[in-house]
Amino acid sequence: MREENHSSVLDFLLLGVSIHQEQEDFFFVLFLFIYPITLIGNLLIILAIRSDIRLHNPMYFLLANLSFVDIFFSSVTIPKMLANHLLGTKGISFGGCLTQMYFMIALANTDSYILAAMAYDLAVAITCPLHYTTIISPRTCALLVIGSWVLGNGNALPHTLLTASLSFCGNQEVANFYCDIACLLKLSCSDIHFNVKMMYLGVGVFSVPLLCIVISYVWVFSAVLRVPSTKGVLKAFSTCGSHLTVVSLYYGTVMGMYFRPLTSYSLKDAVITMMYIAVTPMLNPFIYTLRNRVMKASLGKLFSKKMPSHPT
Ligand SMILES: *[C@@H]1O[C@H](CO)[C@@H](O)[C@H](O)[C@H]1NC(C)=O
Repeated sequence: MREENHSSVLDFLLLGVSIHQEQEDFFFVLFLFIYPITLIGNLLIILAIRSDIRLHNPMYFLLANLSFVDIFFSSVTIPKMLANHLLGTKGISFGGCLTQMYFMIALANTDSYILAAMAYDLAVAITCPLHYTTIISPRTCALLVIGSWVLGNGNALPHTLLTASLSFCGNQEVANFYCDIACLLKLSCSDIHFNVKMMYLGVGVFSVPLLCIVISYVWVFSAVLRVPSTKGVLKAFSTCGSHLTVVSLYYGTVMGMYFRPLTSYSLKDAVITMMYIAVTPMLNPFIYTLRNRVMKASLGKLFSKKMPSHPT
């Protein structure tokens, strides 16, 4: 004899973007490829950095941490999608839904703080190379990493608690691949005014690291332009290129998703979200290694060491 609005016993349905069976199969195959590539790519980055003493500095430690977060980030959503497709179900429990939401917000925020820490590190390395080791000590680097995790989880907790206190009655169909906060708020039959305000505040908080990144780049380019040498400009651009690419991918997709009114969310947005949750973490390792000679060399060493069949 449970009450009608006892939301915790009800399951949610993750609709994804699929209306037709063929679309569903297409996304299943896509994720089936993307997920292992993401895991292996990011794992290789971590292994390459750990195994090469030349890469034991804050810049690469931050990169390894970004890969570490990305492994978890894609693991929050993709395995559940794959499993649901294989089992022929769309269900997710209320607890599972909130867990997904918590980790999505926490890890997305942690990711953005680590990107900001990387921008700060780059800016110091380019503008004050002589003081670099005193400003970005191993201790500072560790603090930046720990701070990113603390702030990321600190951002996720209030949203999750607020959403957990809502009632869901009737329609439980989440128009996305995972339990996204905007989709959940739209489904609730409680008064969500405060939740929506908090969500936009959360988006605002999420923009703080972006502001830090912009400031770091303004700092870098004004320093480079003050002492104009073609070599210096080129060097700065090539060092910052990979980082800027990743930052644009991250924030481009998030802004496309959240910087507009809640009412205009539709099934099509799930495609933008998919870019964010699946494609960006997969591309990170490629963006960083393909442009970086030292990374490529240490990856090569990793492989030749791990292949015992290699005759010498
Ligand atoms: C993350 O950064 C810390 C601090 O610099 C470092 O000790 C740690 O090895 C990094 N994590 C990974 C997975 O490389």
